[in-house]
Amino acid sequence: MTAGRPNPSSADATTPPGSPLSFDIAARAAEADLPTGTEKTQLVRSMFDAIAPRYDLVNRMMTFGLDVRWRKQSARALGLPAGSRVLDLACGTGDFLAILKDAGLRPFGMDLSWGMLAANHTGAPLAQADGAWLPVADRSLDGITCGYALRNFTELGPVFAEFGRVVRPGGRLSLLEVSEPEGGLLRLGDRVWFRHVVPIIGGLVSDRSAYRYLPRSTAYLPSTAELRSLLVEAGFSSVNHRPLSGGLSQMITATRVGRP
Ligand SMILES: C[S@@+](CC[C@H](N)C(=O)[O-])C[C@H]1O[C@@H](n2cnc3c(N)ncnc32)[C@H](O)[C@@H]1O
Repeated sequence: MTAGRPNPSSADATTPPGSPLSFDIAARAAEADLPTGTEKTQLVRSMFDAIAPRYDLVNRMMTFGLDVRWRKQSARALGLPAGSRVLDLACGTGDFLAILKDAGLRPFGMDLSWGMLAANHTGAPLAQADGAWLPVADRSLDGITCGYALRNFTELGPVFAEFGRVVRPGGRLSLLEVSEPEGGLLRLGDRVWFRHVVPIIGGLVSDRSAYRYLPRSTAYLPSTAELRSLLVEAGFSSVNHRPLSGGLSQMITATRVGRP
């Protein structure tokens, strides 16, 4: 397996919902020579601590500002009324939090990296926490957003189980991740840009080893069918997957099942 980003829609086309899936993060990581377990947690935390001061700048350069549009689309896709209580998990420097606030929601942020939290520019309430152990009461949230962090979690199952525990029935999830366009020039350009140019830009502006690792870390990402299956297992339905900007990014939304 290459370290390239998974093509989201191809998995959907080949794997019917409900099929047995073999999502094994450790096997993927071993194939791509990436860390797992506490080694991964420590690497991710120290890497984001290191790149926090220039994180926003490199993001804008990497995506030509499209990341801002993607977060706005993802916040709208929550479909929650003003005043709703929303956790932005893995909030980083706060780009999602600012958009959620502007939309009239009541967001708060949690992140593993102290450096990223210290660079947060939003004034929203923040806490340092691991997504696999959320210090949040059962069924207390109307929604959760999470931008570009799925591949950074040490395991996805425990994080999604926490989503299922803390989101009230009828509450919403809206997740963003990188993906790979299906074909043609956009796919080729994206590969060259993401795998070869981004590490150079990141090295010049920020931390070279971090921006070499980030494109490789996409090997951790499950296919759309696997993501869907994990979310259903965690108590979500209406799982919807949508490629953004020709598949450069992907958005996954879902609704918590159960009676209010
Ligand atoms: C690529 S950044 C995304 C930041 C922000 N969501 C955005 O859209 O710009 C990934 C973030 O995930 C955080 N993270 C990684 N593992 C985490 C975990 N187990 N629990 C909470 N946050 C985590 C990192 O510290 C980092 O801030």
